[in-house]
Amino acid sequence: MNLADRVKTLTPSSTLAITAKAKELKQAGFDVIGLGAGEPDFNTPEYILNAAKQAMDEGKTKYTPAGGLPELKAAIIEKFKRDQQITYTPSEIIVTIGAKHALYTLFQVLLNPGDEVIVPAPYWVSYPEQIKLAQGEPVVVTASEENAFKLTPEQIESAITQRTKAIIINSPSNPTGSIYSEDELKAIGEVCLKHNILIVSDEIYEKLIYGSTKHTSVAQISDQLKEQTIIINGVSKSHSMTGWRIGYAAGNETVIKAMTNLASHSTSNPTSIAQYAAIAAYTESEVEVEKMKKAFEERLSKLYNWLIEIPGVTCVKPNGAFYLFPNVKQAVLACGYSTVDDFVAAILEEEKVALVPGSGFGAEDNVRLSYATSLDLLEEAAKRIKKFVVNHATK
Ligand SMILES: Cc1ncc(COP(=O)(O)O)c(C=O)c1O
Repeated sequence: MNLADRVKTLTPSSTLAITAKAKELKQAGFDVIGLGAGEPDFNTPEYILNAAKQAMDEGKTKYTPAGGLPELKAAIIEKFKRDQQITYTPSEIIVTIGAKHALYTLFQVLLNPGDEVIVPAPYWVSYPEQIKLAQGEPVVVTASEENAFKLTPEQIESAITQRTKAIIINSPSNPTGSIYSEDELKAIGEVCLKHNILIVSDEIYEKLIYGSTKHTSVAQISDQLKEQTIIINGVSKSHSMTGWRIGYAAGNETVIKAMTNLASHSTSNPTSIAQYAAIAAYTESEVEVEKMKKAFEERLSKLYNWLIEIPGVTCVKPNGAFYLFPNVKQAVLACGYSTVDDFVAAILEEEKVALVPGSGFGAEDNVRLSYATSLDLLEEAAKRIKKFVVNHATK
């Protein structure tokens, strides 16, 4: 079958691929520890499940407006007021089928062939592919590990060309967990305003921030930056609702209207009962969210300590999301491998620990570990990785 050119270079998501491979090995009877998961390991809180059940019982099972239920938009607007002190109107919000589809739809309505989008690396695997699917050009700019994987305004300014349409800011970041401070966002915002570049601010890990670090959205810094930014967010990570597929975009009315038109011809609407569940997520107390956050925080600090004990492994300690992104270059070389991909494949083969190689995120020397799994399993995984490195490095 001769497929369309636009999908010929499309590769499956590396994170989903490693999770599938780990599941396959587990089903074949191997004692596999999967650290590839991009989703919280907790159940969706009970009150959210109940809201979906109630919606079903009340027959709320029909099409909804393409841009989302007015009640859900109202709950999202309240959430923005509460958390970021930003005021949006319903016409500045679209509810989508997960944050992933908000981004997909945004790039479809934004980009003409050849338009450039600055993608800071390490990046979430889907950004470059989604930009290419919209006939845009991802311009990858590497953020250094010394700067905690964050781009500087100077780096951004020197990547800007006549064709630059947008930049992605993902804070907290997948895969690094790094968070931009308010001052850093102000400086980046100034560059974007100066060159009239739209900021796509992916804030899906907003609720998973640890210690005294605070989340700032670039859109809350000034009215001008609010107008220059499309915020992407959703309930997948904050409320452990990955399977429900509810995300949203907020920003300029013209962009949101175009996205809503496109959704009306492509998806019609996100699942009605999932939208009712999301209303509960945003209108009830955040006690459950806080509990999950506490568990993640404990895992982060323990896993970090276990990892940096492994010879040849260094790690920037992040304050957000549920990933660690250690640099394993020295361990890889000491074990006689030439690439992180080979090293990761050998660890899966021998020690049955599934890690995601950094290459899929635009970082050749790193691996991503998700700590969305129990402390016992994390400890066992760290032991196995250490055993692997110690055994191979001394051969
Ligand atoms: C940075 C980032 N953005 C967006 C998404 C998509 O989230 P959703 O499940 O809401 O589509 C993910 C999920 O892994 C992510 O890591």
